[in-house]
Amino acid sequence: MTRYLLAIDQGTTSSRAIVFDESGNNCGIAQQEFHQYFPNDGWVEHDAMEIWDSTLAVCRGALDNAGVAAKELAGIGITNQRETTVIWDRKTGKPIHHAIVWQDRRTAAVCAKLKADGHEGTVVERSGLLIDPYFSATKIAWILDHVEGARARAEAGELAFGTVDSWLLWNLTGGKSHFTDATNASRTALYNIHDQQWDETLLALFRVPGALLPQVLDCADNYGETLGELLGAPVPVAGIAGDQQAALIGQACFEPGMAKSTYGTGCFLILNTGEQAVRSENRLLTTMAYRLNGKPCYAIEGSIFIAGAAMQWLRDGLRLIEHASESSAHAENVGVDNPVYLVPAFTGLGAPHWDPHARGAIMGLTRDTGIGEIVTAGLQSVCYQTKDLVRAIQNDGARLASLRVDGGMVVNDWVMQFLADILNVAVDRPKVTETTALGAAYLAGLQTGVYESLDQIAGLWECEREFEPAMKPALRESLYAGWLDAVERVCNN
Ligand code: G3P
Repeated sequence: MTRYLLAIDQGTTSSRAIVFDESGNNCGIAQQEFHQYFPNDGWVEHDAMEIWDSTLAVCRGALDNAGVAAKELAGIGITNQRETTVIWDRKTGKPIHHAIVWQDRRTAAVCAKLKADGHEGTVVERSGLLIDPYFSATKIAWILDHVEGARARAEAGELAFGTVDSWLLWNLTGGKSHFTDATNASRTALYNIHDQQWDETLLALFRVPGALLPQVLDCADNYGETLGELLGAPVPVAGIAGDQQAALIGQACFEPGMAKSTYGTGCFLILNTGEQAVRSENRLLTTMAYRLNGKPCYAIEGSIFIAGAAMQWLRDGLRLIEHASESSAHAENVGVDNPVYLVPAFTGLGAPHWDPHARGAIMGLTRDTGIGEIVTAGLQSVCYQTKDLVRAIQNDGARLASLRVDGGMVVNDWVMQFLADILNVAVDRPKVTETTALGAAYLAGLQTGVYESLDQIAGLWECEREFEPAMKPALRESLYAGWLDAVERVCNN
């Protein structure tokens, strides 16, 4: 009898669920977008109830589409937008505020003050992260300070905090499980990645009461069972990882030195560093790759806030294109040698610049600049930003032989070739590009015995196409120099 796995992929702009069979084939998928709230400049919120409702709906939809019943599932794996912060009432299960999304910059001043007071070293040393509004810690404190009575209630143990994985797990299990996994914990800036536990010094620094926090488990673990009435039968939740780490697993980057880059709303490049937590000298993050059987595996991560979202803005904001797929035709027309640069610093700049105050810009405009040049610059910005990360990783001493890519944008051959050219690194596109959901399914499969080992999973990875670098070095250098110049103009650092 075939054993199926249900992967929940709760992302920044949509909730998705996919039913996989044990060979990793997609048997049925459902997806639902939800509201984005922008209450202030640089603020981004979600309604956590809508996140839960849409997730439950897509789980049911994916099972229907696959023609699979809940009792045929070996387990559920959850993967999620990371850092996004939810605080809810343990009794009622209701959130006390909208979720504050990872992109939200409202705590920039708090972060600047903590940095000015000399605390960054402590944060880097213990959490592997930098001080930035991106991470959950300052978002938690903001909610406790702005919702009446919340801080006292948190201290009294009446409230619970979770990243989106914990929030979904709580709801799936009817409030029985308040857990998270080591990868999601490692994005809060409250978790000591070396000791593998919540860190008292960081909790005190960010003013977060320990009573709020979930227990941290392995990525493949026993997370509890779903309420029977939700999907028609109780199903074990057996795997959790943040979406970028799940993609690393879905891409089977299990050996030190292997790296993947995922192009969704943002772009996140993760390099496996094995048992060693490597400290970056170039403002990259040290983070968990995964933790299995109590054994931590570490990674270096470069996080870019806007990748696919730049194309979304060109389509929905400026209405320069109707569909993202039109962008390749523009790029073919304009060619790589485009004098226009788009710096999509809509929510500040992430790695390696870390400037929450930077804002976007389009540069190099002339009278003959048209829609094509601007759209092409949007595509190129994603590649140039990846180059910033790869350069930082290389300056940290890592050698990158090839890069496995995934996410919505990788279907675009023009972008993939330009990426290989500008990086001067081979870019490998896998057959299955739903790697984030697949990674979550693999974790649940490891826990429930569908898979025996990471080696077995690595054997399932197949390359669909390799893009080899072919650009002349002089052109590569001059194009990238133009990008660096453009970035310098929007940065305040
Ligand atoms: O760190 C944020 C990241 O996890 C969000 O990913 O795919 O929702 O853009 P995505």
